[in-house]
Amino acid sequence: MTTSQTSSQVPTTAPILVTGGTGRTGRRVADRLRAQGRPVRIASRSAAASSTRPDTHRDTVPFDWQDDAGWDAALAGTAAVYLCYSPDLALPGADAVVDAFTARAVRHGVERIVLLSGRGEDGARACEDIALAAAPATTVVRCSWFQENFSEHFLLDGVLDGRIAVPADQVREPFVSLEDVADVAALALTNDAHAGEVLELTGPEALSFTQVAHLLSDATGRPVEHVALTPDDFVAELTGAGVDPDEAAGLAWLFQEVLDGRNTATTDTVERVLGRAATPFDVFAKTAAAAGAWTRARTRNT
Ligand SMILES: NC(=O)c1ccc[n+]([C@@H]2O[C@H](COP(=O)([O-])OP(=O)(O)OC[C@H]3O[C@@H](n4cnc5c(N)ncnc54)[C@H](OP(=O)(O)O)[C@@H]3O)[C@@H](O)[C@H]2O)c1
Repeated sequence: MTTSQTSSQVPTTAPILVTGGTGRTGRRVADRLRAQGRPVRIASRSAAASSTRPDTHRDTVPFDWQDDAGWDAALAGTAAVYLCYSPDLALPGADAVVDAFTARAVRHGVERIVLLSGRGEDGARACEDIALAAAPATTVVRCSWFQENFSEHFLLDGVLDGRIAVPADQVREPFVSLEDVADVAALALTNDAHAGEVLELTGPEALSFTQVAHLLSDATGRPVEHVALTPDDFVAELTGAGVDPDEAAGLAWLFQEVLDGRNTATTDTVERVLGRAATPFDVFAKTAAAAGAWTRARTRNT
């Protein structure tokens, strides 16, 4: 019997606000909630522009973390909030925004917040504490790096080039599947079994970038190598490829900040919460390859 069968449920009629709802985790969370028949409200910076398409965007509201003008309308009448902050909870200033937003949410009667967080980040930890203090029924979903960084995000181009060049050598990271993250987040948004908890999610095995490159070679049928760069060379490569210098520096900082071995340990949280095993990297890679993740046109994905 899973936890979802043993615990009380969140009321089903009020909408659940999904911030970052057009993004990688948010749209997966929203899909799961809709599949359960839950009303979903997507928060997006582009909602105003899409209001001319009410058939497909009627549940989308204008929302910007850097401008609280839309926050009240987004929160009004909601039962719960999926809090997916952009660009990253670990960056300076995120704590002030999370503090102001969670306080506003509580004033609107929101009892349940599910905060997407990252492992091993001091700034993210401060945001977790703020959210947990603001709403006691908060669940923190604290994740290792996503497997989909290689198929939908900033490492996609490297896979397409057959060269994953990053400022990391043989450090191992237990990359987690976004499908597992979304399953856990959707459960926490609709069920009080994990209220007040920090759920630390990892994949089932910690892998070096070299091991990941081998698994991606197997899955794609094309050679993919791992190249360990210095942080300076990494920034130079990214900016040379047209990435904004601040963004490149931020990524380099993130590698140095959390890929030092502190996050290598795996957890059994996915299995404990969902009652099934976490997705191994090779299964992710083969599934993504079969879905065409690495056959589409090359695109910037940061
Ligand atoms: N990548 C990893 O390995 C990893 C691991 C652990 C934790 N995390 C955390 O995951 C979070 C990112 O989640 P994700 O990958 O689902 O994000 P994502 O795919 O980048 O999507 C985030 C969404 O947020 C919206 N957004 C961007 N800037 C915004 C702003 N100023 N105000 C309001 N909305 C904004 C965008 O939607 P619109 O354009 O429609 O507004 C975007 O679709 C970050 O907090 C990061 O720390 C990432």
